[in-house]
Amino acid sequence: MLASVLDTVLDRTVAPGYSRLGYLARSAGWSGAQADPEPGALSGKVALVTGGGGGLGLATVTGLARLGASVHLVARDTGRGAAARAQVAAAVPGADLHVTRCDVSDLDDVRRAGEVLAAAGPDVLVHNAGVLPPGRTESPQGHELCLATHVLGPHLLTRLLADALGGGRVLWISSGGMYAQKLTSAEPVPYNGTTAYARTKRMQVVLSGLWAARGLDSHAVHPGWADTPGLASSLPGFGKLVGRLLRTAEQGADTAVWLAAARRSDAGTGRFWHDRAPRPEHYVPWTRETPDERDALWSRVQALTS
Ligand SMILES: NC(=O)c1ccc[n+]([C@@H]2O[C@H](COP(=O)([O-])OP(=O)(O)OC[C@H]3O[C@@H](n4cnc5c(N)ncnc54)[C@H](OP(=O)(O)O)[C@@H]3O)[C@@H](O)[C@H]2O)c1
Repeated sequence: MLASVLDTVLDRTVAPGYSRLGYLARSAGWSGAQADPEPGALSGKVALVTGGGGGLGLATVTGLARLGASVHLVARDTGRGAAARAQVAAAVPGADLHVTRCDVSDLDDVRRAGEVLAAAGPDVLVHNAGVLPPGRTESPQGHELCLATHVLGPHLLTRLLADALGGGRVLWISSGGMYAQKLTSAEPVPYNGTTAYARTKRMQVVLSGLWAARGLDSHAVHPGWADTPGLASSLPGFGKLVGRLLRTAEQGADTAVWLAAARRSDAGTGRFWHDRAPRPEHYVPWTRETPDERDALWSRVQALTS
């Protein structure tokens, strides 16, 4: 009971829960820790991680490989992908690692890579690639870059891999920043990268639920605040402010790795997770969307990726 109250306090007060403190309190069992996956829990499984060449993606690849998965690092730059593969191979001797080039914001590239990745027979797909551009940027198909990277590319890849995944699991790495945004298709005017980022992170959570409602084993996750190259370059002031309280990349990736190995009977489907526990999708009533607004998101992403 006390553990559950402490866990909820950590979650709702944001800063303590999202920082390293929340991770340490929960993993020490002060607020109801979930058991670690069994060693070899992912032996014989194939996992795909987009943006696997650095930051949380690299930590996720390492964690999945440690559990015995064969992992495909999906990276837009094969040089960075190969360097990351070497790093993981050194940390996890004998790991079965592959690099596939794909720019997930480029729908043509996703279609091409989708064929290669389907042939790998995936059991787990982690939509980790993320961006927070300083100014409005467009993908090769002319979509705003956060939308293309977080929503359109992942949606298309999920559709292309749905049959190959079978009963496999899809994880959408969202952000706690999405709590501040209601579902909307509108871009911020004037453009603001942080708002555009958070709106598309809200879309990821809704889209994960929409896929789950259509029978896919799909979950969204938020990692808290982790010290990664992306955070340092896109939010340098925030990184300095939180400083040593930032999580390590491994701590930020922990829930995605744990969830990849969790049994369906324990994890359910269509949930939003942080620190190995399902979390509310809204902290305040004004961010709630209607069923019609959810359906409109599905229709829009289907149309934009067809
Ligand atoms: N760090 C945090 O505190 C935090 C908090 C909340 C949510 N998140 C989410 O966690 C995920 C990982 O973030 P991070 O902090 O690890 O960021 P990061 O250090 O910037 O890493 C992002 C990764 O995504 C890749 N990527 C970006 N655009 C891509 C594209 N179009 N195609 C393929 N790969 C692409 C990057 O590849 P390149 O090396 O080629 O750039 C990089 O490997 C993101 O979705 C982010 O929104 C992070």
